[in-house]
Amino acid sequence: MKVFTTVKEIRKHYKNCVLRSPGFVPTMGALHEGHISLVEAAVGSCRMVAVSIFVNPTQFNDPEDLKKYPRTIEADLDMLSLVLRENDFVFTPSVEEVYPEPDTRVFDFGQLDKVMEGVHRPGHFNGVAQVVSRLFDIIRPSAAFFGQKDFQQLTIIREMARLSYPKIEIISCPIVREKDGLAMSSRNRLLLPEHRERAGEIFKTLLAAAAMVFDTEPDDIREFVADRINMSPGFNLEYFEIVEDITLTPAKSRSEMSSDKTYYGCIALFAGEVRLIDNTDIRLR
Ligand code: PAJ
Repeated sequence: MKVFTTVKEIRKHYKNCVLRSPGFVPTMGALHEGHISLVEAAVGSCRMVAVSIFVNPTQFNDPEDLKKYPRTIEADLDMLSLVLRENDFVFTPSVEEVYPEPDTRVFDFGQLDKVMEGVHRPGHFNGVAQVVSRLFDIIRPSAAFFGQKDFQQLTIIREMARLSYPKIEIISCPIVREKDGLAMSSRNRLLLPEHRERAGEIFKTLLAAAAMVFDTEPDDIREFVADRINMSPGFNLEYFEIVEDITLTPAKSRSEMSSDKTYYGCIALFAGEVRLIDNTDIRLR
C-alpha cells in the first residue's frame, strides 16, 4: 500500500493507474475491527481502495472532545498494511491540505439533522458534510463505504451524495461488536475499566427496547431505556429515539408505526466522560 499526505501525490498516483476511481473508506483513525470490516468490504469489491485518516476539526462541537480524540497513526498503518494491496493507498493529510481556506459552506439537510445527534451536537453534521465532500473531491471515488454504527451520518451522507455526488455509490456496512455486544468505537479505549465492564448493557438494553415495540408506546420504551441505563453508576442517557429509516421521523405512537417500514432505535449516552452511540433496527413484523 502507499501512504500519501498531499493531493498532489494522489494525482500523480492516478496518472500511473489504469483505474482512477477507487472505493473509498473515510475514517478518523484509531482504527479497530469495525473500520477494518469497511476496508475489507471495499477491497472485496473494488480494484483500487483509498482509506483516509483525518481527524476533522470542523465536526467537533466540543474542543475538549477534539483534543481527547485518540490518535494512533503507526498502529493504524500497521493494521491497514495487512489488508490493503500494492496500488491501494492511505491518505493522511494535514488540516491545511484538506482546508486550504476555511470551509464556510452551510449544508441544508432538512429534517435529517433536526433530531438526535443533530440536536445534541450542533454543527456536527455540517462539519461531517464539509469534510466528506472535500474528501470526495480529492479522492473522486466510484463508491464510498460507511458504517451503520453512525446511522444518522450514513443517512445524511446518502442525501448529500444523492444531491451532489450522484455517481458515487454509498455502501453501508453492518455494525461490528465486541463479544459482550458493545459496538466497536475509537472512543472505547477511553472508557474507565469499571464502565467498560458494564458497557455490554447498552446493546442489551437496545435489544430489549426493540422487542417492546409490539406492545409498548415509544414514550414508555424511552422511559425503560433511561431507567436501565441511568441505573448503572456513571452512565447517563442523553437520548433514546425510535426513528423511521430514511426520513428519520421520530415514532410518536404505536398506532402511527407501520409494519411495512423499518425503524431504528438509536441511543447516545455518557459513560463517565466518554460519549457513546449505538443503534439497532426495529421491525414490527
Ligand atoms: P470514524 O468514527 O473513524 O468512522 C469511520 C467509519 O467507520 C464510519 O463510516 C463509521 O460508521 C465506521 N465504523 C465505526 N465503528 C464501526 C463499527 N463498530 N462497525 C462498523 N462500522 C464502524 O465516522 C467518522 O469517522 C467521521 O465522521 C468521517 C465519516 C470519517 C468524517 O470525518
